[in-house]
Amino acid sequence: MKFTFYGHACFSIHLKGENLLFDPFITPNGKAKHVDVNAISSDYILVSHGHEDHVADAEAIAKRTGATIISNFEIVSWFQGKGIEKGHPMNFGGSWNFNFGKVKYVKADHSSVLPDGTYGGNPGGFIVTSDEGNFYYAGDTALHLDMKLTGEYQKLDFAVLPIGDNFTMGIEDAIIASDFIKCDKIIGVHYDTFPYIEINHEEAKRKFAEKGKELILVEIGQTINI
Ligand code: NI
Ligand code: MN
Repeated sequence: MKFTFYGHACFSIHLKGENLLFDPFITPNGKAKHVDVNAISSDYILVSHGHEDHVADAEAIAKRTGATIISNFEIVSWFQGKGIEKGHPMNFGGSWNFNFGKVKYVKADHSSVLPDGTYGGNPGGFIVTSDEGNFYYAGDTALHLDMKLTGEYQKLDFAVLPIGDNFTMGIEDAIIASDFIKCDKIIGVHYDTFPYIEINHEEAKRKFAEKGKELILVEIGQTINI
C-alpha cells in the first residue's frame, strides 16, 4: 500500500487501484500550503466525523473527482444536501464490501458537529481489510476499551492514530491503544497543526521505540510504501 500524508489528519491510501482519501483538511492548513489540493485524486473520501479540520476540502474534492463519500449517515446526508450524490452512509459496527476491500465503521470517543452547526452524528473510525493488507484509522478519539475489539477482528498491518494530545489521545495513550489493537506499526496524525497539539517528534518516536513499537511521522506531501 502507498500512504501519502497531506497534513493534520488528512492522508490517502492507494489500495487495489483505488485512491482512498481520509479527512480532507488542506486549504485552511497553514502547514500544508505546498500541497496542491487540485492535484489530489480520490475515488473514495472517508470522513471520520464532522469537525471542520476533517471535512474542509471534502465537498470541493468530491465535486472535482466524483468520489464517493463514506461516513456516517448524518454526514453523508449533509454532503448530499450540497449536491454530492455519491455517498455511502454507515453506522457503528456496520461493514460494507467495496471494490477495494471491506470497511467497518467503528466508535471513536470524541464529538462531532458539522461546520454550519448541523448535527454530525457520532464520531467514528474505520477498519479497512483487503487482500492487499489491513489497517485502522481511529479518527479523533480518546483511548477507549473498544479498541481491544479492533485487535480481535483481524491482524492489522499498520494503524493511523491521533497523537497530538489536548483534543485526542496523546503519545502515552496512543502507545496503550497500539497494545489494544495489537499493532506495533503506527502512523501518527493530528499533531503540530495548532499550538495546542505541538509535539516533540524525537521524544514521541523514542517513547514508542522503548515499548518495541514504531511511530512513523510522515512529512506533509510525502508518500511512503507501507
Ligand atoms: Ni474532531
Ligand atoms: Mn480534529
